[in-house]
Amino acid sequence: MTAHGPDMTVSNLDPLAALRWQVEAGADEAIAEAPIDRFALPPKAAKPEPVAAPRATPGLSEAPRAVAQPDAPRASAAILQAPTYSATPGAQSGEALQSASSLAAAANNLDELRAALAAFDGCALKKTATNMVFADGNPAARVMFIGEAPGADEDRQGLPFVGVSGQLLDRMIGHIGLTRADSAYITNVLFWRPPGNRTPTPGEIGACLPFVERHIELIDPAIIVLVGGIAAKTMLARSEGITRLRGQWQTYETPRMSHPVPIIATFHPAYLLRSPGQKREAWRDLLAVQAKMDELGIAPKPAAPAP
Ligand code: URA
Repeated sequence: MTAHGPDMTVSNLDPLAALRWQVEAGADEAIAEAPIDRFALPPKAAKPEPVAAPRATPGLSEAPRAVAQPDAPRASAAILQAPTYSATPGAQSGEALQSASSLAAAANNLDELRAALAAFDGCALKKTATNMVFADGNPAARVMFIGEAPGADEDRQGLPFVGVSGQLLDRMIGHIGLTRADSAYITNVLFWRPPGNRTPTPGEIGACLPFVERHIELIDPAIIVLVGGIAAKTMLARSEGITRLRGQWQTYETPRMSHPVPIIATFHPAYLLRSPGQKREAWRDLLAVQAKMDELGIAPKPAAPAP
């Protein structure tokens, strides 16, 4: 959260107490000189121009698909298993969820999805964030990483995983030959930073989920890697912690996808920075991703040696 809120007159207050109040409210950074009225009505959003899809996504048919994965339970697809989040305390209104679902469903490509999100006011986090954080990496990549939510650095730059934990994520995926420039696509289950990096509420997650699902459909990845507990619980529609959920292949599918996609969860790099003893398990998960890329014939080719 930013500390440039309303013009707070502190002359009659204890300035230290006022500062403490802001920090406790999550305003732990000063990032702008001038105040921003986050409650001002947004300008009327222009309807996004239809744009040609960046690449063919054969899975965009409406027909629901039978899913039979005897040894691998089908993951999330909240479109099917829906309101895991909407019925919980603190959830956004049904109207917001309806609007999220219809806006997301109408997006035919990434530009339209980004524009639909930018026009969506059903997630309260948008009011306190500086930037929307949509995605980074190569949209044609075969491996899609989904993290939790932007932190302070991501909020400032408008890009996911650019802070310290993002640097560790880059090194981790680099060990299995992936780079964000070419072979990885990175996003989060939340598109706006929760104030003070607090845990997102079920309502906030539920409001973003239709956009995340549509994001997956449009990217049409061959493999999905869930980074951290919130991403794992959300996308697998499970309640266990990450220690239980990580390292097991499952499949993910929505009615608009042409085929089930292998999905696996691993520890969040921020957690690995705090608990380096768990890096061994995270390494196991990465090796499983590498083996799956080999199995699917999508492992990036090592760079040719210089002549
Ligand atoms: N942590 C996340 O889960 N996502 C980011 O983008 C940054 C930190």
